[in-house]
Amino acid sequence: MGNIKFYKEPKEAEIRRKTTLLRLAHEADAGVKAPCAGRGVCGKCLIKVKSGDLPEPSEQEIKVLGEEKIKEGYRMSCLVEVDEDCEVEVYV
Ligand code: FES
Repeated sequence: MGNIKFYKEPKEAEIRRKTTLLRLAHEADAGVKAPCAGRGVCGKCLIKVKSGDLPEPSEQEIKVLGEEKIKEGYRMSCLVEVDEDCEVEVYV
């Protein structure tokens, strides 16, 4: 497993098993908001990928964010599971 770095205020969390970016952000107290409690409907848990191989976006993620935002590197942290090193920016 790997580590994840959150940028805004630098925060880190250890990835011990495949889990969502949102859960890791909460573990790191990285300030990611989740008004819909991670149900994938509000689109407020945005992060921007700086490095790392993340899984392809789900249909739900594309529906809420739109393909343009995803091409720009934005992802919904509640819908993305990671298990390897990555770095993301947090938008609050
Ligand atoms: S927390 Fe609402 S879409 Fe992720």
